[in-house]
Amino acid sequence: MRRMTKSRPQVFVTRAIAPEAIAKLRKQAIVEVWPHDTPPPYSELTRRARNVDALLTMVTDRIDAPLIAAAPKLRVISNLAVGLDNIDIAAATAAGIAVGHTPGVLTEATADLAFALLMAAARRIAEGDREVRAGKWQTWGPAVLLGRDVFGATLGIIGWGKIGRAMGRRSLGFNMRVLYTTRSAKDDQSIAGAKRVSMKQLLQQSDFVSIHVPLTAQTKHLIGAKELALMKPGAILINTARGAVIDQRALYRSLRAGHLGGAGLDVSDPEPMASADPLLKLPDLVITPHIGSATHTTRNKMADIATDNIIEVLEGRRPRFCANPEVMLRNPACG
Ligand code: GLV
Repeated sequence: MRRMTKSRPQVFVTRAIAPEAIAKLRKQAIVEVWPHDTPPPYSELTRRARNVDALLTMVTDRIDAPLIAAAPKLRVISNLAVGLDNIDIAAATAAGIAVGHTPGVLTEATADLAFALLMAAARRIAEGDREVRAGKWQTWGPAVLLGRDVFGATLGIIGWGKIGRAMGRRSLGFNMRVLYTTRSAKDDQSIAGAKRVSMKQLLQQSDFVSIHVPLTAQTKHLIGAKELALMKPGAILINTARGAVIDQRALYRSLRAGHLGGAGLDVSDPEPMASADPLLKLPDLVITPHIGSATHTTRNKMADIATDNIIEVLEGRRPRFCANPEVMLRNPACG
């Protein structure tokens, strides 16, 4: 772990977050907050990182090895997210920089959004809304906007971590059969009736498939043309994890061909999705702009934890939510 300097520590926060969290940080450090609604450009972020002890970052900030190499004072990077794919953790660890994140507090909000997308895609809510606003609601119709049953359907959950299990819990109220895949060695009995299966079985048997894995080298394009072809005709795919877990071109082709019945995405690759992206021409896609954890309460809790992660390192302690605790363990002063 890097040594502390005697002067007041400096922190750069890459976007305005909860004022209470910033005020707490200001008691410990000199804090600068990027004042714009869009992220600091990479060159600006690198320039700021050069002089600070801590960075409080968002999923939109790329913290890679060159940036880390250009930041000699940096001791902690605290991400306002559970996911850490925007940060080169190996480079941070090698440089003795702790990496913090905000797991747990966003589990329920993210599962709520995943279930909302499932319902919206199944019952064509966004399409219905567009039709009404466009003045196309002429009458009640026996075949208007027919969707898919959620009650009693089979839900396949890829990734049985906190958010995957929270999604599974929601489905119990809809009498759904739950299948899941996990990398864990052990089966999990915490959701009554949920059954661990192979990826192939999950894709072949599910009416809805919801993705809850982090983005890593192993999960990039986990769902491609082959996997989509295994899904049931008319099945619906939900993604609130990271866009690159799905091969988006393959998803487009599957929806276009009428094999998949719909998709609900909160994430895309890249983000934001270009307004000319052909996926946006498809009526059976419902999409939101990466808002899984975007509730007032959840974002306040995330800001609080992200701030604490920094304060703990500045005070020589191990952050409660640290992705590379080995950095802190190397320093005997940390407990
Ligand atoms: C958001 O995408 C997060 O990882 O928290």
